[in-house]
Amino acid sequence: MTWIDGYTVLKPLHIGLVLASAALFALRGVAVLSGRRWGMARAVRYASYGLDTALLLAGVSLWLLLGLNPLRELWLGTKLGLLLLYIVLGSLALKRARSHQLRLICFLAALACYAFMLSVARFHHPLGLFAPG
Ligand code: HEM
Repeated sequence: MTWIDGYTVLKPLHIGLVLASAALFALRGVAVLSGRRWGMARAVRYASYGLDTALLLAGVSLWLLLGLNPLRELWLGTKLGLLLLYIVLGSLALKRARSHQLRLICFLAALACYAFMLSVARFHHPLGLFAPG
């Protein structure tokens, strides 16, 4: 497999997994917040871990393939920082937050964080959709 082959396979795979992971998180969030038990069912949790692991592996493979330095390529560094924030917010939204209201706030904040990450990746700029010009 050549470099180009790897890139042309990995990039759409990464983007597809990014969208699938967001869709599953959004569905689970709505389920948990409306008291449906399937949102935290074992099979659903494992499907979510599987998708997220594949998404991160594809992202890291692209990172290595392109030889990027997240301290120089600030959009990538920003995306990795936001990913940590998204993981914390997602965990609070689905499980750890103590009240329903706090879970709802964390859920909405996690979705906003993910949407902003998408724009950071798309524009290759740490300010994402707020980048000047
Ligand atoms: C360990 C985590 C991640 C790493 C290392 C990573 C790395 C990368 C790399 C290296 C690229 C290729 C950029 C290029 O072609 O120039 C890329 C593309 C992309 N990533 Fe990620 N990514 C990660 C997670 C995510 C997440 C969580 C999202 C969603 C919010 C995301 C959204 C995207 C999108 C939309 C693109 C395509 C950008 C374009 O159109 O050029 N990535 N990622």
